[in-house]
Order: sequence, then C-alpha cells, then structure tokens
Amino acid sequence: KHPLRLGVAGLGTVGAGLAILLRDNADLITARAGRPIQITAVAARDRTRDRGIDLSALRWHADAIDLASDPNVDVVVELIGGAEGKARELVEAALTAGKPVVTANKALLALHGERLSRLSAAHNAPLLFEAAVAGGIPAIKTVREGLAADRILSIGGILNGTCNYILTAMRETGRDFADVLKEAQDLGYAEADPTTDVDGFDAAHKLAILAALAFGKPVEFDSVHVEGIRSIGALDLGFARTLGYRIKLLGLARQSERGIDARVAPCLVPETAPIAQVDGVFNAVIAEGAFVGRLMIEGRGAGAGPTATAVAADIIDIARGKTIPVWGTYATDVTAVRSRPADEW
Ligand code: NDP
Ligand code: HSE
Repeated sequence: KHPLRLGVAGLGTVGAGLAILLRDNADLITARAGRPIQITAVAARDRTRDRGIDLSALRWHADAIDLASDPNVDVVVELIGGAEGKARELVEAALTAGKPVVTANKALLALHGERLSRLSAAHNAPLLFEAAVAGGIPAIKTVREGLAADRILSIGGILNGTCNYILTAMRETGRDFADVLKEAQDLGYAEADPTTDVDGFDAAHKLAILAALAFGKPVEFDSVHVEGIRSIGALDLGFARTLGYRIKLLGLARQSERGIDARVAPCLVPETAPIAQVDGVFNAVIAEGAFVGRLMIEGRGAGAGPTATAVAADIIDIARGKTIPVWGTYATDVTAVRSRPADEW
C-alpha cells in the first residue's frame, strides 16, 4: 500500500520525538497502520539545529504554512505550539485545504476548538489531538470513545507534568522552586513559556478540552477558574505533610443542573488517596460516569517519548481511515458555555 506522508511542523521535544519513534518502530507501526507512515516534509525555525536524528533527506519548508499546500503531504502534524501565530495559521490552512491535522496543541484547542471543529466538519478534514491532554495517557480516546455511551458527571485530575514534578521534588527533597523548574525545562516537560505551566493555564487548557468532550459543550476558556502553584512554599508542603495530606495541582470540571463548574487550583489530598501517589511527571485523569462509576488512568504527562506515542496513535487512526468528529459524538454547531464562578460551587 502507498505510504501515508506526513508534513511535520515543529521539531522540538515532541516533533523530534515523533521522528525518532516513527523510525525506531517503523515495522510495528506499518503493520498496525496497514501502510507505511513516512515524514516527507518538515518545518522549524533553525535548520542547522541538531535534532538527534538525521532529517537531511526531507524537504524543508522555510515557512511552515507551505506544508498545508505541499502535494507530497497527506497529513499535517502541528507541533509548534501556541494558540495564535504560525500554529493556528497552519492548522486552519490545512483543514481548509481538506488535509487531516494531528496536533498536540492544547492552547489552540482550548481557545479555538469551536472554530476548528467547524472547519474540520466543513472541509471533511479530521482534526485529532490525543497528545494535547496528559501526554502519554490515552485520555481523549478514553473519554471520546471508551465512555461514549455514558453520561459523564465529572472529569479532571493531575493535568500538568511540570507542576507535579516541581511539587514532588520540593516535597521530597526540599529543593528550591526555580531550581526544579529549570530541571523540568531541561527534561522537555515545560511549555516554551513555563509561566503557562506554573500559573495553571496549561492544566486549564487541558481541563477545558476534557470538559468539552465529556459534556458535549465547549467551555469558554476565560470562564475557567485558574490558580497555579507559585504561592506554594516549603512551609505549605510541610504543614500538609504533618496533617497527612499532599498538595497537588488539580483540575476538576463537573456538570450539574446548575451548570458547568471548571477550576484549576492547588488542593490538599489525603496522602492515602490513589491520586496522592501520582508523583513526578506523571499525570492522572479521573472521570465519573453515571453507569461506569469512577475511573482513574495514570501515566507520564509530558516528555518526548510519551507525547510522541500519543501523536503517532492519531496518525495511525488516520492511516486506518478512522474518522471521528472533533468533539466526539456531539454536533459541531453547539455553542460554548461559561463555567460558573468558583465562589458559586
Ligand atoms: P518545543 O519548544 O520543544 O518545540 C517547538 C518547535 O516549533 C521547535 O522545533 C521550533 O523550531 C518550532 N517553531 C517555533 N516557531 C515556529 C515557527 N514560526 N515556524 C516553524 N517552526 C516553529 O515545543 P514542544 O515540542 O515541547 O511542544 C510542541 C507542542 O506540543 C506544543 O503545543 C506543546 O504544548 C505540546 N505538548 C508538549 C509536550 C511536552 O512534553 N513537551 C507534551 C504534550 C503536548 P526550532 O527548533 O528551530 O526553534
Ligand atoms: N508542559 C506540559 C506539562 C506538557 O508539563 O504537562 C504536557 O502537556
């Protein structure tokens, strides 16, 4: 069978990780996808940078937007990041050209998901984003497919690997916030602007996506209550320990007859609770459904390998011809709703 040809925009932690995964697992992926999957074209800012893999045989585009019109690209893979600028332009151009798009960009989905879902539907171009929530955890598939038959009452969990890594290291070793943040950046966990992580916005982006999938209505992002971990110090972690608790940055969204509540904040969790044991870069996604009850899935929430597996899973779905609407089983013409303010919970 003819190969599925990818145009990859962004060759940083995730983009280079994807190229390495597709190279190292090529046979396995070809067998499972039913056809070979090849990167044919790429775009990044610095052509001379060492990416840890030889990309010299690939076509380089000086402007990533050209991947959308490249006749040798069947699927555009957007791994640049950011809700605006080149990432948004490229995704919109590719969908408008009728090309399937795979992205890990949670900021883009959280802020513009409604518009993108309409573009995807109008041009019959799939838009897949498994890697946008909780790195290597198949969170989107779990909610959109595994729980498709149930009414989800609440969803959330530990949704930012960088914050969980920082809180864990500060608690276990007493290390300084700035020092551990630097380490998380060096490991490729943090966003290009790490304030997005530590101020809670990255977790809120993921929560907004999960809530949209779970409740079938996009949540207006600016209505999500967001608090980060900047104010948490050694004293707080020490008091929590003395009282038998751990501090975790949690995102939680729930739906009741009063509306949707969505918030991200540092929370005290009893140290015997399963979620309290989720440490380091690990994330946990917790959902509660009327029929399924409660479930929790745990795994690495950031980093090259885990995130690349999620991106590649979406690409394999496209190679297999599987299509699914952006927000799952729900119509694309639903309008976004606002979360109730946190003080009304
Ligand atoms: P990086 O900062 O490591 O990589 C970004 C890449 O985009 C770089 O290769 C950069 O080029 C390229 N780039 C930036 N601007 C442009 C532009 N205007 N045109 C073309 N290329 C550009 O980011 P990550 O790999 O960490 O993240 C990528 C996406 O994946 C983001 O949306 C992020 O939120 C998401 N994500 C990241 C995870 C992680 O663990 N890191 C986990 C889950 C999702 P150059 O290298 O030349 O500077
Ligand atoms: N910066 C994000 C995190 C990457 O630390 O969780 C994964 O989405």
